Amino acid sequence: MISFATKIIHWQRRHGRHDLPWQNTRNAYRIWLSEIMLQQTQVATVIPYYRRFLRRFADIKSLAAASLDEVLALWSGLGYYSRARNLHRAAQRIVAEHQGRFPRDFETVLALPGIGRSTAAAICVFAFGARHAILDGNVKRLFARRFGIAGYPGDAKTAARLWRIAERELPRRNVESYTQGLMDLGAAVCTRGKPRCDACPVAPECVALRCGMIGRVPAPRPRKALPQRRTQMLVLLHAGQVLLEKRAPSGIWGGMWSLPEVAPSADVAALCAQRYGAEVVTRAALPAVAHGFTHFKLDIEPQRLGVARVAPRAAAPGVMWLPLAEALGAAIPAPVRRILAGL
Ligand code: ADE
Repeated sequence: MISFATKIIHWQRRHGRHDLPWQNTRNAYRIWLSEIMLQQTQVATVIPYYRRFLRRFADIKSLAAASLDEVLALWSGLGYYSRARNLHRAAQRIVAEHQGRFPRDFETVLALPGIGRSTAAAICVFAFGARHAILDGNVKRLFARRFGIAGYPGDAKTAARLWRIAERELPRRNVESYTQGLMDLGAAVCTRGKPRCDACPVAPECVALRCGMIGRVPAPRPRKALPQRRTQMLVLLHAGQVLLEKRAPSGIWGGMWSLPEVAPSADVAALCAQRYGAEVVTRAALPAVAHGFTHFKLDIEPQRLGVARVAPRAAAPGVMWLPLAEALGAAIPAPVRRILAGL
């Protein structure tokens, strides 16, 4: 049986990229710079920045001697500026601690600012022909699909499984072609949306493809726990009518009719008198209603308030008393409808 690595290496030789500006060199500085620029950034975007950067800073010493402002100016537009700051700091450290020569030892490379495990591996493979496993975002996706690893790769357990696969599949020889092949296949064929499985050398063994799971592997980042907010909604009732208030034109439920909303700690009786000319006679907490927005969760604590109307009509514009049945037919938010429907 032909191994995974052998297939990747053959594919890279026939279909991979061979003439990128950071290929066909053993200059560790140039390879390092390319690997940093290529983090979270596509090849086509990187190339002009890479050339410009090297025209200004031909080697580690000139980079270390530059001001951070100038480095950042050359980085401007690439984004993720901590990459540029770390690059500059690392260059200064290489001058101070390694006589301006890029270190060859993997652990020493890994200890430099801005260089993680996969980047250190890529540099050592391409610059020194060393044997180390890479695992960047594209390669995680490729391994997750081919070997059927279903979890979210950002999760520590899933990442550890993927690293074990990366180490296990690493060939004895031709590590450079293999590494470049993984990168090229991940970027051009095993893409996140619409992967080109018909062009993939490992499609016949691909677990995700066989299971019809290509679209679901790897799992996306789990939704973050959303912040929780609390509010009180006032259900002012008088003679079968309920008070609705028009919300501000922009923001949450912009322009809709809703129940008055006040902070959980508000002095409800005073507020009703002042704002609506309504004297609170009876008061009861209604069951809480939870509502999810895109960016937060809202816990609504409705208060049922029987009021003796003091003012003949609500004074403020944007406030109206409506028979309950009519209120249910107005443009009101779903949780407000639930509250009114439960009365
Ligand atoms: N992405 C990260 N490193 C790369 C490389 N050496 N070639 C192409 N894409 C890459």
